Amino acid sequence: MSAMSPRADVAVSLIQVAKSYGDVEVLQPFDLQVAEGEFVVLLGPSGCGKSTILKMIAGLEEVSHGEIHVAGELVNYVRPRDRDVAMVFQNYALYPHMSVRDNIAFPLTMSRRPRLKRGVIEARTVTAADIVDLTPYLDRKPAQLSGGQRQRVALARAIIRQPAVFLMDEPLSNLDALLRADMRTSLLEVHARIKKATLYVTHDQIEAMTMADRVVVLNAGRIQQIGRPRDLYTAPANTFVAQFIGSPRMPLHDLEVRDDGILHFADVTLTGDADVPLAPGASVTVGLRPSALRTTSSASACFVGEAKRRDYLGSDSYLEVDLGEGLSVVVRAEADAEVRPGDTVRVDADPGAIHVFDEAGARICGASVCRRER
Ligand SMILES: Nc1ncnc2c1ncn2[C@@H]1O[C@H](COP(=O)(O)OP(=O)(O)OP(=O)(O)O)[C@@H](O)[C@H]1O
Ligand SMILES: [Mg+2]
Repeated sequence: MSAMSPRADVAVSLIQVAKSYGDVEVLQPFDLQVAEGEFVVLLGPSGCGKSTILKMIAGLEEVSHGEIHVAGELVNYVRPRDRDVAMVFQNYALYPHMSVRDNIAFPLTMSRRPRLKRGVIEARTVTAADIVDLTPYLDRKPAQLSGGQRQRVALARAIIRQPAVFLMDEPLSNLDALLRADMRTSLLEVHARIKKATLYVTHDQIEAMTMADRVVVLNAGRIQQIGRPRDLYTAPANTFVAQFIGSPRMPLHDLEVRDDGILHFADVTLTGDADVPLAPGASVTVGLRPSALRTTSSASACFVGEAKRRDYLGSDSYLEVDLGEGLSVVVRAEADAEVRPGDTVRVDADPGAIHVFDEAGARICGASVCRRER
């Protein structure tokens, strides 16, 4: 029984998919659709269930519940090798005794499907190598390649299968930071050339934000939010997403709305955007995004406080500012600004800096500073 028929331009469709090991639920039921050509990133901390989702799509793990469709076909009972997907792992395990050429061609030479002609395999090997810029290295052995080049061999080995869907499980995580940034760019270039649906797993929010068309944020087996990077940043669905996306981490403060419906924050009043009334007496959590707050000399600043700790980052730095009443914010300061601990600092907030969440952590609204009380 099919719950619904996925649309034709959907490459992967997961319908009420869930996973348990015995009594342990590692993924709560969820829906996810990936469009043809879309680059979707699964983002979340270790153990949240990212790899499990990829393995279920690849057929390496059974689903406990729900349906998986790949390229319009229900694949729940289709064997892994007959699914139209190719997976790239973190540990790409190249065959050391084989040349780059033979490593790339391996999925085709080993295929149990009707054998392809030698000439076809060779042509597809050359094309795959060209896509990932490995043409000059075809006759080398893996040991004679850099880490990034080896990772590209693994990618070519997936490309040569011409799958409907690519599944990539932290493929860059054993490369150093510089190489990772380069490989991110190459991966996106490859994606732009072959335009196949890709599900990419990472726990690195910067990687997710820079690469994804859409990001799926997961925590403890539950989808927290699905959205474009910009949506996650400007309107995080809950406190988890608010703190997981963006750097430095957004500080959160638990506060109570006054009986007259006014929300105090240190010596200012906050008003909710979009006419969302804050219930009198409600417990709320207020978060202020550091990258949207900055020091200012303006007398009409939103907040005034005392400088505390400072983290220097080169182009700018982040300053912790104590606002009194146990509240503090982290704000951007010019790197060469002369601020010392104990100095009085004024802080301006860009639109979208302030977020209000309910007691359960779900976002209620954005907020802005209304007026100074004292
Ligand atoms: N065979 C298994 N039996 C029981 N629990 C398992 C099994 N395989 C995975 N799990 C559990 O399922 C959860 C999700 O694991 P998964 O590998 O999908 O996490 P992940 O998000 O990929 O984490 P990481 O970032 O560390 O790779 C974890 O809590 C893990 O302990
Ligand atoms: Mg994993």
